Amino acid sequence: MSPWHAPRVINDQEPVSLYEGLLTTRAIRRYRPDPVPEDALRDILFAASRAPSGSNRQPFRFLVLTDGPNAGRAKGLIGAAARRIWSAKATGDGYDRGSGMESGSPKARMAATMDRYVADFESVPVLILPCLVRYRPPTPTEGSSVYPAVQNLLLAARALGYGGVITHFHAPVDAELRQLLGIPGDILVAATVTLGVPEGRHGPVRRRPLSELVYSEAWGDAPPWATDPPGTRHTSAGPPKAGGQPTG
Ligand SMILES: Cc1cc2nc3c(=O)[nH]c(=O)nc-3n(C[C@H](O)[C@H](O)[C@H](O)COP(=O)(O)O)c2cc1C
Repeated sequence: MSPWHAPRVINDQEPVSLYEGLLTTRAIRRYRPDPVPEDALRDILFAASRAPSGSNRQPFRFLVLTDGPNAGRAKGLIGAAARRIWSAKATGDGYDRGSGMESGSPKARMAATMDRYVADFESVPVLILPCLVRYRPPTPTEGSSVYPAVQNLLLAARALGYGGVITHFHAPVDAELRQLLGIPGDILVAATVTLGVPEGRHGPVRRRPLSELVYSEAWGDAPPWATDPPGTRHTSAGPPKAGGQPTG
């Protein structure tokens, strides 16, 4: 019998192994309207809070916004920013050109998902602002004490049958959010995470082959063991090339 608390997996879904969960935690942007129960939020945030941080200072904090008045206002602020950001990106990255115009193409599917995500942002079941308590002046590596916790959060959500996505949609409205939510000046709002019950299914992630990402001895030299396991699919990825086909 495990000594650990066994969290409840939604709808009694089959639990996934840690390793399978790692390989199948997608960015989930389409949610059913169902709320995320408080005990699930507790279990997800507990896993997030177990993440590593420099000197184990645990400088991560999580502002969880569900259905209170401030939550509604924060979703409105971030939703408006998200729509502006996506509108500029859709044009800048050519989502409205080339294969973006072909229904069913990866680019068109991504654009449709994003259109809907930002249009309905105010109805995301849970909005979480992971924050970093700054105990010294900003450094290029300071995020390393908050983003492991954010990834733990997303993986825990996956384990319990929920799904989420990390974004930076808060950035343009950082000042307004600070005022609304009483976030002190020495706190970095590190991300905007939305969470809910996924509408679709988690599939395998699309990532570059290991040999393009792992080097040994010298920059650019892939070791012979750095190969994708047999049967790995979806091994090209990235944002669309300007005006051309998406690479993923
Ligand atoms: C630092 C960071 C910033 C991101 N910003 C956004 C964002 O602003 N909007 C968004 O919809 N997704 C955002 N994402 C999610 C990525 O687009 C997503 O993780 C990536 O495309 C892989 O998708 P997949 O996990 O479904 O394969 C961000 C992810 C990271 C790690």
